[in-house]
Amino acid sequence: MRKAFLIVLGLCFAAASPVLAFHDAGVAHCNGCHTMHNSEDGVAIDPDNPNGNPWLLVDESPSDVCLGCHATRLGAVFGDDPVNPPLLLGAGNFTYLLEDNINDGHNGANNPIPGYKAGHSIVAPGHGLAADGTLTAAPGGDFPASVLGCTSCHDPHGTEDFRMLYGAGRVVQDGVATFDNPAPTADGLSIFDGTGETNDNHTAYQSGMSAWCANCHGDFHQQADGRLIHQSGQILGGTIATVYDLYNGTASIQGGNHATAYLAAVPFEDPSMTTDGTEGPVASSQVSCVSCHRAHATSAPNAGRWDFSVTLLDEDGLESGSYAIPNPYGDDDQRSLCNKCHKKDEFDHLMTP
Ligand code: HEC
Ligand code: HEC
Ligand code: HEC
Ligand code: HEC
Ligand code: HEC
Ligand code: HEC
Repeated sequence: MRKAFLIVLGLCFAAASPVLAFHDAGVAHCNGCHTMHNSEDGVAIDPDNPNGNPWLLVDESPSDVCLGCHATRLGAVFGDDPVNPPLLLGAGNFTYLLEDNINDGHNGANNPIPGYKAGHSIVAPGHGLAADGTLTAAPGGDFPASVLGCTSCHDPHGTEDFRMLYGAGRVVQDGVATFDNPAPTADGLSIFDGTGETNDNHTAYQSGMSAWCANCHGDFHQQADGRLIHQSGQILGGTIATVYDLYNGTASIQGGNHATAYLAAVPFEDPSMTTDGTEGPVASSQVSCVSCHRAHATSAPNAGRWDFSVTLLDEDGLESGSYAIPNPYGDDDQRSLCNKCHKKDEFDHLMTP
């Protein structure tokens, strides 16, 4: 009797658990992505490819399989209209790869920068996405652009790590590469989050993101061998941490304070960061690749978290007609967000006082 009761209870719990689980941080049921014969009820499961697909996948390419569920729902990493992107959860969005022009620099309207420069060009022919038109490999490394896709970074068979990203020693895409560095330590918003990224609802970057990007980009941003380039994965130090804390926009260089200084548009890594954390950095917090870039793509060249080529953030989108990345301070005179750490706009003359 008691046993029967427990079984009924168990069924209730099963029914009450989220209907929308699939990977559950591990390997989902195989036929969510694979088909053994490309046939069910005598009909091809992938009708566009009656002879089936490599790896016995249910769609044309690994990335097309993922986009089958994640294009416009379940975290929506893609969309059909790049000027109306889905809610931002942290990684940016691949929809901007569809843009014809993302150049908002001077005379950008007449010098288009094509959308494939908006970030990582996913190869997903079923969704109209092809390899990058310029870069043939990851700058700083040798990962080939010709096969770059969701499963270059995320393990389709799941991992315990942040966002199922590949970690150290893991073989990627059936042998294309082997990663040396571990997955980053971070905490993300639920892909069912209805609010999207804000200063108190954001990915909590804790550690290891720069080393993780280096799995493909090598020492691209390390000052090794005397190269003079901006560091990543190095501590901010007390002076820059204080600048970050006090900086509250071009119009308010000293107006901020440590308790509310966090700016989701310019994050730093810190082991104590939480998804609702609003505190600024401490001296040992680190500048990271994701302080300036997003992992997927943005409507600015080089997956910039803000457009590196505009003088005032309000100019974003004007020349190109592409999506204007929101100006986090909302002020017409706001300058580049490099200033969050460097306050080089300290002595600016405000143009619309
Ligand atoms: C979320 C989608 C997804 C699920 C679920 C999935 N796979 Fe895969 N699998 C892939 C993709 C995509 C590839 C192609 C290689 C790549 O892109 O990493 C692949 C490749 C493979 C390969 C060949 C290459 C390799 O990595 O060994 C085998 C074998 C395999 N899967 C078995 C399975 C089995 C067994 C299951 C169920 C326990 C499963 N897969 C569940 C997406 C999936
Ligand atoms: C059958 C639909 C389906 C397919 C196909 C699918 N996913 Fe998912 N994915 C989901 C659902 C549902 C969730 C949310 C719940 C969960 O994690 O199971 C999710 C969650 C995720 C997350 C977020 C996990 C987290 O930490 O919150 C990532 C990353 C992801 N999927 C990547 C992929 C990749 C990469 C592929 C292709 C190899 C893929 N998915 C294919 C349905 C799918
Ligand atoms: C699995 C390998 C891989 C990983 C991991 C990876 N990248 Fe890349 N990245 C590439 C390849 C290949 C290209 C060149 C092709 C392209 O631009 O799509 C590239 C290009 C880029 C570009 C230039 C985009 C453009 O269109 O000009 C930026 C910026 C970038 N990566 C930043 C990052 C950052 C930041 C991370 C970590 C969050 C990262 N990458 C992790 C493989 C990778
Ligand atoms: C170059 C590596 C890379 C590629 C390629 C990539 N991702 Fe991601 N993805 C990441 C990283 C890193 C994060 C965490 C970003 C953050 O929170 O800043 C992420 C986050 C996500 C999330 C969580 C929601 C969000 O927007 O933050 C989902 C879902 C996801 N990826 C699915 C996909 C799918 C589907 C594809 C292919 C269409 C893909 N990713 C391609 C690296 C990658
Ligand atoms: C301080 C901000 C900042 C940080 C931190 C940063 N980048 Fe960049 N990145 C830029 C800017 C700005 C550009 C545009 C080109 C330039 O100014 O050199 C760029 C360009 C790139 C490109 C494109 C290069 C090309 O030839 O097209 C890649 C790839 C890239 N970054 C990867 C990374 C990786 C990986 C990291 C972390 C290890 C990183 N970036 C950290 C600001 C940054
Ligand atoms: C998250 C904070 C952060 C952001 C955002 C940031 N930087 Fe830096 N920057 C640093 C740190 C930390 C250093 C190293 C300072 C030191 O060693 O004293 C640095 C150093 C520099 C240097 C001096 C390099 C040298 O070797 O002397 C320049 C120039 C610079 N940054 C430019 C930029 C530009 C341009 C941007 C925007 C594209 C930017 N930074 C964004 C944190 C940041």
